[in-house]
Amino acid sequence: MKKNSNRRSFLKKAALGSAALTSAPMVFGSSYEQKIFLNRNYHAAVFSKNDSINLALIGSGIQGIYDTQSALKVDGIQLVAVCDLYTGRLDRAKELWGDTLFTTRDYRELLSRKDIDAVIIATPDHWHQKIVIDALKAGKHVYCEKPMVQQFDEGQAIINAQKESGKICQIGSQGMSSLGNEKAKQLYEEGAIGDIVMLDFYNDRYSTEGAWQYPIPPDASATTVDFDTFLGNAPKTAYDNYRFFRWRNYRDYGTGVAGDLFVHAFSTLNYIISSNGPERAMATGGLRYWKDGRDVPDVSITLYDYPKTDAHAAFNAAFRINFIAGSGAGGGFTLVGTEGEMTIGQNSVILKRSKLDRVPSGYSMIAYTEATQQKIKEAYAAKDLEPRTSSLSTGETTWQAPDNYKGGHYDHFYNFFQAIRGKAKVIQDPTFGLRAAGAALLANESYYKSEPVNWDPIGMKLI
Ligand SMILES: NC(=O)c1ccc[n+]([C@@H]2O[C@H](COP(=O)([O-])OP(=O)(O)OC[C@H]3O[C@@H](n4cnc5c(N)ncnc54)[C@H](O)[C@@H]3O)[C@@H](O)[C@H]2O)c1
Repeated sequence: MKKNSNRRSFLKKAALGSAALTSAPMVFGSSYEQKIFLNRNYHAAVFSKNDSINLALIGSGIQGIYDTQSALKVDGIQLVAVCDLYTGRLDRAKELWGDTLFTTRDYRELLSRKDIDAVIIATPDHWHQKIVIDALKAGKHVYCEKPMVQQFDEGQAIINAQKESGKICQIGSQGMSSLGNEKAKQLYEEGAIGDIVMLDFYNDRYSTEGAWQYPIPPDASATTVDFDTFLGNAPKTAYDNYRFFRWRNYRDYGTGVAGDLFVHAFSTLNYIISSNGPERAMATGGLRYWKDGRDVPDVSITLYDYPKTDAHAAFNAAFRINFIAGSGAGGGFTLVGTEGEMTIGQNSVILKRSKLDRVPSGYSMIAYTEATQQKIKEAYAAKDLEPRTSSLSTGETTWQAPDNYKGGHYDHFYNFFQAIRGKAKVIQDPTFGLRAAGAALLANESYYKSEPVNWDPIGMKLI
């Protein structure tokens, strides 16, 4: 209890009971997990007429479709309208959800409809702020894809608009709603890894799709695509299929690997350890392979400093993305602490704990006489070294979500709709969304400036 007394009093130090370490995977099954499982309403709920929600989708591309499919699994939700700038995507929406679906290229048409309660916004990043604010002002509840903003200074206006509107606004890093993230949070708060020391995050890819070279449909043209509207406030440029269908590759519309991928890791990290985020970032990397006209790096290595708070010790986070991973695809998110480490996914947590090996082994003893070695061993054995935070024993345990688990994406939408119904609080409000997006954008700021950058995670401002 000598150091980090604040944090240690925050840790519940609960006996982990049923979490005794075993080598066989455990299905989430304790009373705690049953509770969160049931809270998510996996068993038929009876909805009243008032629980019915009419939904519209703005940006019916890849993620807009996945979002809508997850949203429609929640009882009481109907999709009534879809907006997109490419005719082929409106045709696809009708193919998926029926010919009677109302479709338009102008999102303002959806916002003016009185029968629409909530909108999903899954447009490219440079459109998020404008459409979120317009939707909130029009009295709609909003689910906005991550990253919440493309630029640091766009966030506060969203926070204000949400407060003024009184409407619900959920940001879309769905992983933090998952059972895996929830279990990791519980374990962290119980002291299972002791004091946090670092986060090791990486995402390796080796495919055209992984590197954002998305297919371009043969009928794409200035007639089927509303390119001028797509540009929005971005610099004017002639019609370009690559910019429209592969917008992530350009700084004018996207946020690079950081806004696309780091942001999910920040949402998970900040949620599990109850943090507001880092205070400093240093990025390096480059455009090594995908020289297809893009102006964002395909390799990024970024280091972050998290300050000490009441909830966690000071620590470092290492983020790495590589779109040219010759060995194939892979990824990981591992929290390393003084007493163990957790590798965390949406459906699983792997906890490894080992005892500190405090007595010197043969390596350094070789330089002493046998008699001195004996005295050194006795001295170490007599010392009372720092007690460990958790009573959990050493070894490795895997927690695995049950087979009928609907996943974090469903849970994130379920949470959004329950918040609209007044039965829950959103897990990822605009303030949380800005802290995650802001932390991610620091990587770009540092990379393009070629210097470390500082951030105020509470005030959410560059320093
Ligand atoms: N949560 C996740 O796991 C996840 C995964 C992928 C993408 N995303 C996010 O979802 C968003 C969309 O990404 P995507 O991969 O689906 O892109 P996409 O290019 O496949 O789809 C974007 C769609 O938005 C439409 N669009 C562009 N500007 C518009 C406007 N002003 N009004 C209406 N429609 C407009 C385009 O026509 C396109 O069909 C991005 O912000 C991205 O970061 C989140």
